[in-house]
Amino acid sequence: MQNYQSIKESLINLEKEIQEKISSIIDVEHLKELYQDILGKKGRITEILKQLKDLSPEEKKEIGIIANQLKDQLTVLFKEKQVELEKKEIQESLQKEFFDILRPIKNRVGRIHPLSQIQYEVEDIFINMGFQIMEGPEVELDEYNFGKLNFTDDHPARDMQDTFWTEEGFLLRTHTSSVQVRAMEVLKPPFKIIVPGRVFRYEETDASHENTFYQLEGMMVDKNVSTANLIYIMKTFLSTFFEKDVTVRLRPGYFPFVEPGFELDIQCLICSGKGCQVCKYSGWVELLPCGLIHPNVLKAGGIDPQIWTGFAFGMGLSRLVMMRHSIEDIRHFLSGNIRFLEQF
Ligand code: PHE
Repeated sequence: MQNYQSIKESLINLEKEIQEKISSIIDVEHLKELYQDILGKKGRITEILKQLKDLSPEEKKEIGIIANQLKDQLTVLFKEKQVELEKKEIQESLQKEFFDILRPIKNRVGRIHPLSQIQYEVEDIFINMGFQIMEGPEVELDEYNFGKLNFTDDHPARDMQDTFWTEEGFLLRTHTSSVQVRAMEVLKPPFKIIVPGRVFRYEETDASHENTFYQLEGMMVDKNVSTANLIYIMKTFLSTFFEKDVTVRLRPGYFPFVEPGFELDIQCLICSGKGCQVCKYSGWVELLPCGLIHPNVLKAGGIDPQIWTGFAFGMGLSRLVMMRHSIEDIRHFLSGNIRFLEQF
C-alpha cells in the first residue's frame, strides 16, 4: 500500500515539477533534452513504472491509467512549448537576418525571350545588308507619331491606330514609324536603318491583338530608290530568315506616310500556296505593310524630295515570332508564364 501511494505521489509531483521546468526553458534544444529525461525510453516515467512489479493487479491498473494520462498531458505541454519556441526563433531571425528576395534561385538559368531572340536574328540579317540599328522613345510627341508622317490633325487614318494618351498630351507610340523623321533629322542621306521596338495600342485584346507588341521598322533613303529595291530587300530578308525561297506579292495599302503604299504578302510556307488553315485557304499570308516614303515626310525630316527618295516597311516582330514557332496566342509573350518561356 505504501508503495502504491508513493508511486502515485511521485507521478503527481512529477507533473508539477515538469510544468515549472518547461516554463523556464528558452530554446528548443533544451526542451528536447528535458523531453528525453522525462518521456524517453530511459526517462523518469519509465523508471517510476519499473517499481510497479510488486503491486496488485488492480493497483497496477490504476497507476497505469494515471501514468498514461500524465504522459498525454506532458506530451501536449511539450508540443505547445515547442511551437512557442519555434515561433520565437523565426521572429528573432527575421529581425536580425537580411533576406534577399532577388537572389537567383539555384539551377534556374534564365534565357533570352523568344521575341528578343528573333529580334537579334533579324537585326543580323539587315546589318549584313548594310543597315544601321536605331532606337526612339516609347513615350512620343504627336508630331513624330502622326503629324510629321503626313497625318493631319483630323485625318481619319489616325483612327486606324487607337492611341494611349498621357494627361500631359504625350502618347505611347503606336508604331515604330515614329522614328522615321527622328532618324532623318540626325542622319545624312544616303542611309539604311532598322528600328526594332515596343509599340502600344489601346485595343481590345484577343489571340492576335495585344495592347503592347513589337515591330521592326525599316527605311532606306538614297537616290532613285524604287519599289524594285523594296521588293529585292524584302525577298532577300525573307528567304534568309525562313531559309527557303519566298514568293511575295504586293497589294495596294493605304498609309499617309507612303506613296505608293502596299501590303506585302508571302506565299504560304506551310502549303506552298495550295491553301491550308494557316493561310485560311487563300495561299497567301499578309506579312508587312510598306511603300515609298511620301515627299511630305522627307520634307518634314529636312530632306529634299527632289533629290532623295526612299522606301519604308513595318514588320510585325511579334507576328513573325508567332509564325516561326507556331504560337497560337500573342498574349503568351508578356504573360510572364515560365512554362511558356522555357520552351525557347
Ligand atoms: N507603321 C505602320 C503600322 O504600324 C506600318 C508601315 C510602316 C506602313 C512603314 C508603311 C511603311 O501600321
